[in-house]
Amino acid sequence: MANIVILGVKWGDEGKGKIVDLLSEHVDIVARYQGGHNAGHTVMVDDQRIVLHLIPTGILRSGKKCIIGNGVVVDIQALLQEVGDLQKLGVSFEKRLLISNRAHVIMPYHRRADQADKQASGLQRIGTTGRGIGPAYTDKMARLGIQIGDLLDEKLFGEKLKINLDNRGLSQSEHFQQVFSRYIEYGRRIKPYIIDVSYYLNQAIDSGERVLFEGAQGTMLDVDHGTYPYVTSSNATAGGACTGLGVGPTRIEGVLGVVKAYTTRVGNGPFPTELDNETGAELRLLGDEYGATTGRPRRCGWFDALVVKHAVRINGMESLALTKLDVLDKCRQIKLCIGYEWQNERLTQFPGNISIVEQCQPIYEEMPGWLSDTRGINSLEALPAATRKYLDRIQELIGVELGLVSTGPRREETIIIKSSKLTNWLNI
Ligand code: GDP
Ligand code: IMO
Ligand code: MG
Repeated sequence: MANIVILGVKWGDEGKGKIVDLLSEHVDIVARYQGGHNAGHTVMVDDQRIVLHLIPTGILRSGKKCIIGNGVVVDIQALLQEVGDLQKLGVSFEKRLLISNRAHVIMPYHRRADQADKQASGLQRIGTTGRGIGPAYTDKMARLGIQIGDLLDEKLFGEKLKINLDNRGLSQSEHFQQVFSRYIEYGRRIKPYIIDVSYYLNQAIDSGERVLFEGAQGTMLDVDHGTYPYVTSSNATAGGACTGLGVGPTRIEGVLGVVKAYTTRVGNGPFPTELDNETGAELRLLGDEYGATTGRPRRCGWFDALVVKHAVRINGMESLALTKLDVLDKCRQIKLCIGYEWQNERLTQFPGNISIVEQCQPIYEEMPGWLSDTRGINSLEALPAATRKYLDRIQELIGVELGLVSTGPRREETIIIKSSKLTNWLNI
């Protein structure tokens, strides 16, 4: 029985929520290792559409423990709101949610600072979710951040808060007192959830419990390996599971990448296969491509094998979950990007330099569409021949198996590929 990382291959919103929810049935613990409530992970449970932001997706399966790691940045107000909303839907938390004492807190001044993104221009305008994520990670790296555990120590928290408010010219005593009291109260409310996550997880693994490490965002939004500076401020890639939870790489057996049958991106930055035309608008309509956190329309384009190969290499992905296959049902022709043209050169690897990426023209291979309904199909054999050819071609181009294919948002609308690495890891 293995511990696996599940993360996004491209620019987020690949359907990680659906896949983590589905596979969490086979593990004991789901642990989030980075990001914050910038994430929006959608799960369909029967006819109910639930969007999770900060709480690990395993919370929707009773008995599963859910961990928020030190690599996550936590807006406590948003956390308490999410807990309350889920409780209203009947989700029970009975000692299932655990939060690292080392996770950093998103403070009100981080949220305000993130709003400046809207006024920025050029390289400075990222198109963030406005949740305070970047400013919170900035303070963490500057060694000024406030950790969850600090909220349980009035003296330490008071000193740290004072430095942070002073630095921002916000140190009027009335303001200090307001923020101080509010966050001490938050600390009191979340105290029952706070633990040493590294210690807990390693002990759990030693005693045979299985862990699913849940990534937010995606490889191309990773601060080191994505389309910098148009990225989020954390390591969404598989290495982040180790640093963001305090577990060694020897504890992880497999990495599953979640990838859409086409590509989307929300926010600014280069996107070589983007379709700024009717076809892109059609994909948006058919795939209902609107942000689960901000409601923004997602930019849409064709599948990009260079991006996927980049993600496979960086994360050591040995299996892929291909989602939203059914969205392509109405496409007469389907394109796969197999290279980029740049200054009369043919590139077969995703470039590291953003200005090169911006100048790249995709080189496409075309395949006939299947023009029939694949929604809800749950076996490979039942797929049209043209659809199977599309799946085979993707595996050939990437050189990695498909362990799972998703044909709809619901749990049962899924093809699990028998005898794949994925089924071996999870013993299913
Ligand atoms: P995440 O951030 O990676 O968890 O993805 P999001 O939840 O932001 O966006 C994925 C959207 O696609 C959600 O609305 C899902 O319900 C939906 N979805 C997931 N898998 C499929 C699928 O195979 N087919 C269709 N049509 N929708 C899907
Ligand atoms: P899930 O987990 C898609 C994008 C934002 C912006 C950039 C930086 O649902 O896949 P941030 O607020 O993180 O500083 O914004 O990252 N972004 C996402 N895009 N899905 C997400 O999460 C995202 N989280 C952040 O749009 O371009
Ligand atoms: Mg999302």
